Amino acid sequence: MELDQLKPETATPRQVRQYLRDKLVVIASNRGPVEFRRVENGIIKPFRGAGGLVSAMSTALTATDAVWISVARTREDVITALAYPKRRIPMPLENPQYFLRFLVTDKREFHLYYNVVSNSVLWYLNHYMLDLTGNPCFDDEFHTAWKEGYRKVNRLFADEIVKEVRAQGKKPLIFLQDYHLYLCASHIRSRLPEALIHHFTHSPWVEPDYLKFLPTGYRREILEGMLSCDVVGFHTRQYAENFLRCCEESDVLHLKVDSKRGMVVRDGRLTFVRHYPISIDHEALEKLAMRPEVELHRKRLRKIAGERKILLRVDRVEPTKNILRGLKAYRLFLRHHPEWHEKVIFFHFLYPSRQELHEYRNLRREIEEEVHSINREFGTLEWDPVYLEIEDNYLRSIAGLMEFDVLVVNPVMDGMNLVAKEGAVLNRKNGIIIISTRAGVWGELKGAAIPVNPLDVMELAEAMRTALRMGERRKKALSRKARQVVESNTSFNWFLQQMRALQRAEKERGKGTVPEEPPVPPLPRYEHFD
Ligand code: G6P
Repeated sequence: MELDQLKPETATPRQVRQYLRDKLVVIASNRGPVEFRRVENGIIKPFRGAGGLVSAMSTALTATDAVWISVARTREDVITALAYPKRRIPMPLENPQYFLRFLVTDKREFHLYYNVVSNSVLWYLNHYMLDLTGNPCFDDEFHTAWKEGYRKVNRLFADEIVKEVRAQGKKPLIFLQDYHLYLCASHIRSRLPEALIHHFTHSPWVEPDYLKFLPTGYRREILEGMLSCDVVGFHTRQYAENFLRCCEESDVLHLKVDSKRGMVVRDGRLTFVRHYPISIDHEALEKLAMRPEVELHRKRLRKIAGERKILLRVDRVEPTKNILRGLKAYRLFLRHHPEWHEKVIFFHFLYPSRQELHEYRNLRREIEEEVHSINREFGTLEWDPVYLEIEDNYLRSIAGLMEFDVLVVNPVMDGMNLVAKEGAVLNRKNGIIIISTRAGVWGELKGAAIPVNPLDVMELAEAMRTALRMGERRKKALSRKARQVVESNTSFNWFLQQMRALQRAEKERGKGTVPEEPPVPPLPRYEHFD
């Protein structure tokens, strides 16, 4: 079957299942869809993994029989895996659609790969948030982390993927996820030359000048890894263009780039560079919203809020999310507009995140202090202007997203931001979304939300006021538009587009068509740092 014949709007999981009959879909990501933990009574329960990658991927895999490989994070992950044949855990447990396999890593290697390289350097690099005045410092500790952690775990992932593919003997479609796994494809390609490999970056991709802050050799390894794939995907055109420019201006690899058609050639091999924004499964989300636990959370929330208007933030405790500036803006809003005192409440439904890193622990403390300080400055016996909860609780977030009057999404930089999309479909009050223009989602929700510059707290304070004072007709029009935009692109479409791109890449490979010369004039050159 040709996937090209299937329209994303009408294609069904059944048709895709038919296409996948003789194929094996393998997903690889650092974080898996669930983490098993022991709760009271010693019972082991699955808890949903945090972040947008997990949200979108879990529902995109409906009926694929895919194997999803991710790192075991707890002892209970390992114990659970051992209870299933071939350590393949059916997911979701109550209605299996795919299988989860845990990769067991050495504690030190995992720390070096995850904390030192991925989250302390690559994450900030991708968000243009390196602290150039002092951090990072590529010293011997970092070089050790790269060699003994990042490289090693990427190789372990590749070993596990190759093992799985060989065991099943089907044609593999391999989907690597995010900045943790930039090097993985190189190791797979050398052992499975025919495999179709896709890499998707869930964060932004920076311009060539910024990428050059990475040591030359590591930059080269990353590009080599990415270009061992048949297709590399990004959320937006801008990120894809940045990637193409990084290839075009590469001072470490000799590459031919066709920017117009989104192709890069390295050693006679072709890689397609594509962009398709990740999304959510709004139908699955609506079903979750019907759960009785969500209703209980809504009641609790309404009791706390009373008649007050509800501002809401749902985020991981994460520096890129810009939570402190959001609070500063709210303080300014309360200072400048006393008429709103007692009439609003700002819910912060946050998730603990990456607590092994001191920046994240400090951020958590600073958020708590800022919240107390605002509540001390403006609060009364009956009113706390900010309500903060830092807890891993998705159903509570769903309840909040159904009830907000204003949703604040002001990241400094964000690959996409699925909270804004979830809010657009779940909200029951024609609530207004305020969105940073530096979030990938802004490209889609432009005209259906209020834009803000993430650094401009005065602008955000005014946006809060504008949203709160907006008339019903305008609110209805904006929220309807936001919902329509999100519903027109589901996470299933997102996944289908990736499969199509792989199919197309395979055809090109068959024809051996590699463009000899780049037909478009090169983009302006940047000065080299090294
Ligand atoms: C972002 C990343 C994901 C990551 C998630 C949660 O969305 O793009 O790859 O899984 O954050 O972060 P964590 O470090 O907890 O997995």
